[in-house]
Amino acid sequence: MRQKGKRVRYVIERMTMSDVPRVIEIERLAYPSTWPPSAYRKELQDNRWAHYIVLRDRKIVEERATVPAQEVEKPRRMFPLSLLPGRPSATVPTPDLASIIGFSGLWLMVDEAHITTIAMHPDYRRLGLGEFMLVSLIDIAYSIGAKWVTLEVRVSNYSAQNLYRKYGFREAGLRHRYYSDNQEDALIMWTDEINSTSYKLRFQDMKAKLMRKLEAQ
Ligand SMILES: CC(C)(COP(=O)(O)OP(=O)(O)OC[C@H]1O[C@@H](n2cnc3c(N)ncnc32)[C@H](O)[C@@H]1OP(=O)(O)O)[C@@H](O)C(=O)NCCC(=O)NCCS
Repeated sequence: MRQKGKRVRYVIERMTMSDVPRVIEIERLAYPSTWPPSAYRKELQDNRWAHYIVLRDRKIVEERATVPAQEVEKPRRMFPLSLLPGRPSATVPTPDLASIIGFSGLWLMVDEAHITTIAMHPDYRRLGLGEFMLVSLIDIAYSIGAKWVTLEVRVSNYSAQNLYRKYGFREAGLRHRYYSDNQEDALIMWTDEINSTSYKLRFQDMKAKLMRKLEAQ
């Protein structure tokens, strides 16, 4: 995402409690049903195995920076993908909720990283940004010692399935009537061992291609 003399536009940050209202807004636009806000509180404050991120568009932050200085909250540090920070306090204030355009998360269960959610604001889809969040989650999976990455996806959700297949996820079974809103089945998908040489090479190659694509935008 970084080019000489060019500022990084999209950044990944750890999700904090102050991000939750905007996360819920995007969730409503992205999913037929949503988690209660208390679920996010539990995930962010009580679940030490959970890792949640938000994707922020800095252009929106900069546009908002034209308001009088005293109205602007102190911005958090922003990190390029390769420098994801450790988990901050869950109460750090957010500079601008509107600049959050996507979010995602996973749980570590022993040596398996379970992706629990990934959603982009509809206005920002098909730009490679959902992929950017998936890459960030897989990077987190590496950094917390996971060996595999897994998830459930609606059998009808071809766009998400395509995204996962692009990153080596393969179908490993069905959970019947998994989704309570319409009783839809879930496809269970798994990666190969992410530390295998073949997966690592493929992942690094895909990530490099994605970064070039995002830089070119
Ligand atoms: C799934 C989702 C996160 C993808 O985000 P996105 O930013 O639009 O996706 P990207 O632009 O990064 O696309 C990456 C890849 O995903 C696949 N993909 C994404 N949207 C697609 C679509 N509408 N049709 C087909 N493939 C699609 C493609 O393989 C694409 O790679 P390509 O650009 O080389 O073709 C987004 O559609 C979303 O938020 N959906 C609603 C929530 C959801 O269903 N989440 C998944 C729950 S399991």
